[in-house]
Amino acid sequence: MIRNLTETELTEEGETLGRSLPPGAVLLFAGDLGVGKTTFINAIARGLGVTRPATSPTYALVHRYQGRRGPVFHVDCYRLESPEEARDLDWEGMMREGDAILVEWPERAEGWVPPATAQYRLSHLDDPDRRGLEAL
Ligand SMILES: Nc1ncnc2c1ncn2[C@@H]1O[C@H](COP(=O)(O)OP(=O)(O)OP(=O)(O)O)[C@@H](O)[C@H]1O
Ligand SMILES: [Mg+2]
Repeated sequence: MIRNLTETELTEEGETLGRSLPPGAVLLFAGDLGVGKTTFINAIARGLGVTRPATSPTYALVHRYQGRRGPVFHVDCYRLESPEEARDLDWEGMMREGDAILVEWPERAEGWVPPATAQYRLSHLDDPDRRGLEAL
């Protein structure tokens, strides 16, 4: 089922999801450039108790935030040139310590991403203010 959500609705959905995640969840987010993956992930992180400035521009591959129960990792694989580069990311450490691992562009790290708890796909719709959200 694909739901059509405004940014406000997507954000509320993310916060609710973040509040309900079990410890150690690994979530993957697929979808085109600018579709809202980071927006959704930031909302999920807020639901996990992460508080930080809304805009923290950084080009790091792995962002580590402090959540209510433990570290929340946001891994953005967009800039990986090949999946082999994902080998260098400390997936084991993230699995050991992380309350959640949220992976953007997971297909670019194919073979290195730990088994997913859940996967989502966001999609562009005719209405520029809405996005399709599908749990895969
Ligand atoms: N319904 C919606 N849900 C989410 N974002 C929306 C929506 N409508 C408009 N937007 C806008 O779309 C943009 C989504 O940007 P965001 O960085 O979250 O995308 P992304 O999928 O992470 O892109 P990238 O692949 O480049 O990292 C934002 O500018 C946001 O304001
Ligand atoms: Mg993004």
